[in-house]
Amino acid sequence: MKEVGVALIGHRFMGRAHSNAYRQVVPFFRPRLTPRMRVLCGRDRKAVSRAAQELGWEEAATDWREVVNRPDVDLVDISTPGDSHAEIAIAAARAGKAILCEKPLANSVREAEAMLKAVEKAGVVHMLCHNYRRIPAVMLAKRLIDEGEIGTVHHFRGTYLQDWILDPDLPLLWRFQKAKAGSGALGDIASHSLDLGRFLVGEIAEVAGALETFIKTRPLVDNPKKKGRVTVDDASAAVVRFANGALGTIEGTRMAAGRKNYNRFEVNGSRGSIAFDLERMNELQVYLSSDPAPVRGFRTILVTDPDSHPYIRAWWPPGHIIGYEHTFVHTVYDLLEGIAKGKSPRPNFADGVANQRVLAAWEKSARSRRWQKV
Ligand SMILES: NC(=O)c1ccc[n+]([C@@H]2O[C@H](COP(=O)([O-])OP(=O)(O)OC[C@H]3O[C@@H](n4cnc5c(N)ncnc54)[C@H](O)[C@@H]3O)[C@@H](O)[C@H]2O)c1
Repeated sequence: MKEVGVALIGHRFMGRAHSNAYRQVVPFFRPRLTPRMRVLCGRDRKAVSRAAQELGWEEAATDWREVVNRPDVDLVDISTPGDSHAEIAIAAARAGKAILCEKPLANSVREAEAMLKAVEKAGVVHMLCHNYRRIPAVMLAKRLIDEGEIGTVHHFRGTYLQDWILDPDLPLLWRFQKAKAGSGALGDIASHSLDLGRFLVGEIAEVAGALETFIKTRPLVDNPKKKGRVTVDDASAAVVRFANGALGTIEGTRMAAGRKNYNRFEVNGSRGSIAFDLERMNELQVYLSSDPAPVRGFRTILVTDPDSHPYIRAWWPPGHIIGYEHTFVHTVYDLLEGIAKGKSPRPNFADGVANQRVLAAWEKSARSRRWQKV
């Protein structure tokens, strides 16, 4: 089986999730191409060497510029904070490498457009890691909507709620700094809901957005006695109009006490509704108004049937549920198949640009307190 040499930049949260995916994909999915985990890159020599050993990488490195130009690397996986995505992706494209980039694609529309231009010019395969698209229940939602089962879509309601930043003593991590993260809850988690909205319903034409920063300063990471300014939103909410006429609401906050990773959506159509909640990710709630009246109501489908539901065949028998890490294995599998065919799977950098335009319009609308065209 032909090998694809992989370089992964970043070795913490997403670095671990992606490493696991490269290790799992071959035994379960038998892709046409085998990822060879050549090199893991970070900034701290000791930390990256340890991570490389733990996560199964052949080598560790500290200079991404050197790594993306290595002849034994075919795929560059960008799992670093947003401020480095554009520079790494453009260099990787110029070196002719396929690219998997974590979300959000960049910290600005300008950067995102430059990344798209670079991958198109180089003719390399590119993919954006909005892994939630690849949950079997979410794919079933997409299929039901596309096949018209719930009729004309009227509403999309996406909420992504967490509470891990409630403590004011939580230090000023990179996620609180606009120069590094681009935005706060907006790009971090609302971007996932917005990507799901585009995946399920279609393009967003207009947005009326709001952003709020409740905790304005936080202790510095290196000097907790001193405080620094939070330059991103803690919470974000928007009303959106889809090009097809559907009306949506999207909310992303890291200040919702008790909500840990509450990534939920509901789609209401002229003939039914669909609801999904990541914390019950093997299930899909479906309501069809065509059901006989006495038994009409939301039903819960356990989306684990290998014959009817995507990706499940590679895993376990029906009812033997899958979890968070599987979404990354599915992403990597589709990426490898994309590389084999020379076709960029979606979401790709073009989706990243489209998402970034909505995020930018949302921020602009929050500042002007007016509707903003995308
Ligand atoms: N798909 C998802 O569900 C999901 C979840 C969390 C984070 N993310 C995204 O993944 C990316 C990384 O987030 P994370 O949570 O893994 O962050 P993290 O802080 O856990 O890890 C960041 C890693 O990047 C490395 N890094 C930073 N700058 C670097 C540089 N210049 N060169 C080499 N390495 C560098 C750090 O050493 C660290 O290993 C972000 O874009 C984030 O939005 C996506």
